[in-house]
Amino acid sequence: MTSSPTRAVRQDPGAHPVAFPQDRGCPYHPPTAYAPLRDAGPLGRIRLWDGREVWAVTGHALARDLLADPRLSSVRDRPGFPAPTERFAKVAARRVALLGVDDPQHNGQRRMLIPSFSLKRIAALRPRIQETVDRLLDAMEAQGPPAELVSEFALPVPSMVICALLGVPYADHDFFEECSRRLLRGPGTDDVTRARDELDDYLGALIDRKHGAPGDGLLDELIHRDSPDGPLERDELIAFATILLVAGHETTANMISLGTFTLLRHPEQLAALQSGATSTADAVEELLRFLSIADGLLRVAREDMEVAGTTIRAGDGVVFSTSLINRDEGAFAAPERLDWNRSARHHLAFGFGIHQCLGQNLARAELEIALGSLLRRFPRLRLAAPAEQIPFKPGDTIQGMLELPVAW
Ligand code: HEM
Repeated sequence: MTSSPTRAVRQDPGAHPVAFPQDRGCPYHPPTAYAPLRDAGPLGRIRLWDGREVWAVTGHALARDLLADPRLSSVRDRPGFPAPTERFAKVAARRVALLGVDDPQHNGQRRMLIPSFSLKRIAALRPRIQETVDRLLDAMEAQGPPAELVSEFALPVPSMVICALLGVPYADHDFFEECSRRLLRGPGTDDVTRARDELDDYLGALIDRKHGAPGDGLLDELIHRDSPDGPLERDELIAFATILLVAGHETTANMISLGTFTLLRHPEQLAALQSGATSTADAVEELLRFLSIADGLLRVAREDMEVAGTTIRAGDGVVFSTSLINRDEGAFAAPERLDWNRSARHHLAFGFGIHQCLGQNLARAELEIALGSLLRRFPRLRLAAPAEQIPFKPGDTIQGMLELPVAW
């Protein structure tokens, strides 16, 4: 099906399906148990939590082809859609804007939001992001070491920024951060539907209030937008608000915490960054590749497809492992090395094709400002506990640190 060169499947892809997702042994490397999958690449088989076997894409060229292929669907309640966890399966039938719809509906939704995330709009937001970061660093400094970086810095930065952008009151952050935590990694699976209901109710009530009293956030723009198609339905507004709020804070928070941990475990690269030998922008790009925190992009085939010498059948699930794709030797030399001198820009940490991360300009700005300012403010930043004892997130499709004790 593809025109660009992709390696053929080297061994029977169905021979030994690897369980997916698995815990990372080290928070910044893919699980070592994925090695057979990587070796069998670019297309292999994995086994999900419910015993179902689906395809796993691990090669970079093949991933680009397939992520741009309209024969793969993102609609989560389509038969065969791969739910990576039981928790995900519980809410798979719920409405998900953008990420959960195919074209042409997707294109219509995305066009409404693109202007708010353009390079120009995000550049204009930089001073506000810098102010937020500086305020949080001031508070950390005033309190003195040690600090718990996830709750004091990594989470509040993107949370405050996305609240300001959307027009959601940051005063409610404990509530929606908790809902998001329960959605993405709650203890039980019953709780996930409750978390989704509570978040929907909260955002619905917020949207109702904004109808009467418009503010100046993106949600207000969407509510009051003047369109020949008429106003957006309440449910659609809630779906937009949910994905932007959850995707907007959770992912970037993980990149800040895991990015900091990784830098503190790579003193040479840290020194190059602090001396100015490497630009923060280049370091952020390589960290995005190296960490691949959104590891498991999900699709289902709408029709039979010939791919890399094998057939993906209609209704087969397809999972893209970005941690393996971004360490494909065919795309990145010595991919296991954190190397500021490579050009990492073609990584797929933000996905590819129509669903490529809408917030990537914002995420890059936040990461550059947050990591750059943190290291300038605390040039002697260090871990305040043995690295092996610092807890990180269990195997799932989003990776990051649970806590990060630091001192300076
Ligand atoms: C470093 C931080 C981030 C990472 C690694 C990341 C990663 C990703 C990835 C991999 C996808 C594609 C998923 C797929 O194809 O299945 C995606 C989509 C998306 N991201 Fe991000 N993201 C980040 C930050 C953000 C931020 C700050 C926002 C702000 C609102 C955001 C909003 C979205 C949205 C709305 C989509 C769906 C786009 C669509 O379907 O058209 N993300 N993100």
